[in-house]
Amino acid sequence: MKVIVTGGAGFVGSHLIELLVSNNHFPIIVDNLNSGLYSNIKTFVDSKKAKFIKYDIRNFNKVMELPKVDAVIHLAAIASVVESISNPIFVNDVNVNGTLNILEFCRKKKIKKLVFTSSAAIYGDYEKKITETSPTIPTSVYGSTKLSGEQYCKIYSNLFGINITALRPFNIYGPRQNDAYAGVISKFMDRLNENKSPIIFGDGRQTRDFIHVDDVARAFYLALKYKKKTFDVFNLATGKSTSVNELSKIFLLAANKPKLKTIHKKSIPGVVVHSSTNPKKIKQNLHFTPIISLKDGITKFVKSQTFDSKL
Ligand SMILES: NC(=O)c1ccc[n+]([C@@H]2O[C@H](COP(=O)([O-])OP(=O)(O)OC[C@H]3O[C@@H](n4cnc5c(N)ncnc54)[C@H](O)[C@@H]3O)[C@@H](O)[C@H]2O)c1
Repeated sequence: MKVIVTGGAGFVGSHLIELLVSNNHFPIIVDNLNSGLYSNIKTFVDSKKAKFIKYDIRNFNKVMELPKVDAVIHLAAIASVVESISNPIFVNDVNVNGTLNILEFCRKKKIKKLVFTSSAAIYGDYEKKITETSPTIPTSVYGSTKLSGEQYCKIYSNLFGINITALRPFNIYGPRQNDAYAGVISKFMDRLNENKSPIIFGDGRQTRDFIHVDDVARAFYLALKYKKKTFDVFNLATGKSTSVNELSKIFLLAANKPKLKTIHKKSIPGVVVHSSTNPKKIKQNLHFTPIISLKDGITKFVKSQTFDSKL
């Protein structure tokens, strides 16, 4: 299968490229390297198992020049709540207008399948267990751009019959997460690499559902093959909520630094407090079950990094 992967040089994208190549598909990576790195995909491009096209998805004419493929996986975005608050026009441009360009490309080239990357951020601060039918009240510009993207996907799917599956990932972690847009685990890792204690914004009682990037890549792969419904959305998570305080303990134990004290700073506005879901729908329909536990995933992640042994 020939598949365009936008944002394929990024954190999630590069893991997905690896999985597609290992399953004998040919990915065409479309990325402007805003936060993604060419080094993440170089091996696959050099060995001609993937192709790289350096395009900005905001450039409509360039997007229209892309080749016809069997499917598109659209990951390219500015994946930062903080940046969406400091720079909303830019983030909206990439996440909403960029998505609309990709949808137009799918319509004009008669592409049959699109996987869209939404986010759990569309639910905002919903206190109860989230399901796919929970209210969507984003608290950040980022969440709002993802919700708009989903709505455009639904409209294009209804109007033009494109099979579109939207995944709403919760908190993804693992190797190659970009520093500028990194989630809490990568930020903890960066601090340890600088011989510094982890920083927690707020009291640390905020909860998240952390899912390993290898599990996420597998879910995207399953979504690519999902044909049952013309438009469908799935929460992508483990179903286990962990507070950032607990996470810090697991992390420091895995890094063998149990005595290191975490530092607390003022919480960031727009960032949700609790986030938990039961990923029943994705299990039933995509037959997806995450297999990497948080403890194992963090241990694996820590081992893959280099630490200063004097810490
Ligand atoms: N990491 C998470 O925890 C998380 C959670 C939920 C949803 N997501 C979504 O998953 C997707 C991938 O996120 P990630 O964590 O891998 O982030 P990332 O920043 O590593 O990847 C995004 C990629 O998009 C590319 N990109 C950005 N703007 C572009 C543009 N204008 N044209 C072409 N390419 C562009 C970047 O260069 C990068 O390679 C995003 O859509 C993000 O919103 C991520």
